[in-house]
Amino acid sequence: MEIIRTIAEMKSRSAAARADGKTIGFVPTMGYLHEGHLSLARRSLACCDFTAVSIFVNPAQFGENEDLGSYPTDIESDRRKLEALGVQAVFLPDRAQMYPAGYKTYVNVEEITGKLCGKSRPAFFRGVTTVVLKLLNIVRPHLAFFGEKDRQQLAVVRKMVDDLNLDVTVVGMPIVREADGLAMSSRNVYLSAEERVSARCLGRALETARSLVQKGETSAEKILREMRAIVSGEPRTHIDYISVCDAETFVDLDEIADKALIALAVQVGKARLIDNCIVEKS
Ligand code: PAF
Repeated sequence: MEIIRTIAEMKSRSAAARADGKTIGFVPTMGYLHEGHLSLARRSLACCDFTAVSIFVNPAQFGENEDLGSYPTDIESDRRKLEALGVQAVFLPDRAQMYPAGYKTYVNVEEITGKLCGKSRPAFFRGVTTVVLKLLNIVRPHLAFFGEKDRQQLAVVRKMVDDLNLDVTVVGMPIVREADGLAMSSRNVYLSAEERVSARCLGRALETARSLVQKGETSAEKILREMRAIVSGEPRTHIDYISVCDAETFVDLDEIADKALIALAVQVGKARLIDNCIVEKS
């Protein structure tokens, strides 16, 4: 497995793979890899000839009081996990290359970035789309893989790719969960043993919502009431948002007509956790 540290080297490695007629798959990450990330890499390996995984903790997507300074990293362990999978290249650019002094260009997808996570993290999506566009320009993949845990991020990236006519296919991959239902996230490492127990409420709230819809409930208010009670019933939790909304526009719904996204963000101790599911009226 090649470890690539410079933009120039990554560009020429991708150009060589393209010249050889290889399909390039790309998995952008911020490292501290878990099964969710590895499922993206496995999918890329299964359908592409050359898979590149980037590890870059992107400062542009963190707000001032967020966890940029303490974001977990373990490059050696990440490298071992990717090598064991058979990934061809790991791209590890540093901040000075990605955002050199005098850097001034940012990409912003409008409207959908103002909903859900965009409300409490106003800088987040602008930072994500900026770094993802830069990475896509450097790696020039045919396919890029993103997890559905960050469903709004996936939609925002898809919109950018579509609006800017980028030649890449964005592939969304299902959420990978721990045995107790907690969605895998690098930030789960922040949870103490007690917080870890409290954090299960996100999965439980979504399960409850799903079963209410299956039983014929269509009122967003009733679903939200049940979900809020589950989350607030747990100590050490603070609800950022719980939403029953349109899965494409993220506009809140009063009634579920056919399909809806149910999404939530909850602060549990130091960890801001997100989760979601799509529900369909039976
Ligand atoms: O989902 C993430 O880990 C990040 O937001 C991404 C897509 C790697 C951009 O920094």
